[in-house]
Amino acid sequence: MAEGLDTTVHKILLTVLAISFVLNYYTEYGSKIIEIENPAFSLLGPFNTTQIVANDNYNQLIDIDDFTFIINPQPCENYPAGFLLMIIVTSNPTNNENRRVIRNTWGKNHDTTKVVFLVGLSNNISISNQIINESNSYGDIVQGNFIDAYRNMTYKHVMGLKWIVHHCPKVKYILKADDDILVNSPQMLRFWDGNCLRGALGT
Ligand SMILES: *[C@@H]1O[C@H](CO)[C@@H](O)[C@H](O)[C@H]1NC(C)=O
Ligand SMILES: *[C@@H]1O[C@H](CO)[C@@H](O)[C@H](O)[C@H]1NC(C)=O
Ligand SMILES: *[C@@H]1O[C@H](CO)[C@@H](O)[C@H](O)[C@H]1NC(C)=O
Ligand SMILES: *[C@@H]1O[C@H](CO)[C@@H](O)[C@H](O)[C@H]1NC(C)=O
Repeated sequence: MAEGLDTTVHKILLTVLAISFVLNYYTEYGSKIIEIENPAFSLLGPFNTTQIVANDNYNQLIDIDDFTFIINPQPCENYPAGFLLMIIVTSNPTNNENRRVIRNTWGKNHDTTKVVFLVGLSNNISISNQIINESNSYGDIVQGNFIDAYRNMTYKHVMGLKWIVHHCPKVKYILKADDDILVNSPQMLRFWDGNCLRGALGT
């Protein structure tokens, strides 16, 4: 009898604990509604990127003192009117199939957006050649002189920002993506159009 009562008490205690845990979880991590007073401007800028000053050492990438871009395309040289968004996609040199799909789907370049892929060096000669071929065909590969490895991911990210600051400084927005994700770009463009384009163009 006493044993049965104990079990019931345990069950009740466990239930209370579980409920308070779940409640606590939702209070702490549940979705929050952020109210934006002026949705056109307060969250995303636009920022005046003409004020960005590239005062870093071009050949220093974190602790790499002799950094260079092995492949360095210049898609931003002649800014088309309304050029707004640069999408930098971190990519493994071996993932040429992913890059092909991105070029043919959500990453299609147009007047307002461009895509570049960030890669490091591969020590597989056929992969390196593949990268050179892709770069010749599409002009959208940015390659740094560090070994491409997951552990070197930080170099790749910072390289992307360095490349933007030095070679694409007037772009209004940067989107950083991976080569294994899908961006709903028509929806994104509608979002830019509604929220940012007016401000970005100063109207
Ligand atoms: C952006 O900054 C540049 C350089 O400081 C300045 O000439 C320009 O007027 C600024 N544009 C806007 C819209 O504030
Ligand atoms: C180099 O990459 C190619 C294509 O992915 C692969 O077939 C080959 O085995 C790789 N070679 C070496 C030495 O890893
Ligand atoms: C790169 O292009 C050259 C010339 O078009 C071709 O001979 C070679 O097979 C290509 N290499 C790769 C890895 O795609
Ligand atoms: C990262 O890149 C550096 C510079 O190329 C290289 O020495 C190092 O081995 C790379 N790290 C890994 C984990 O491959």
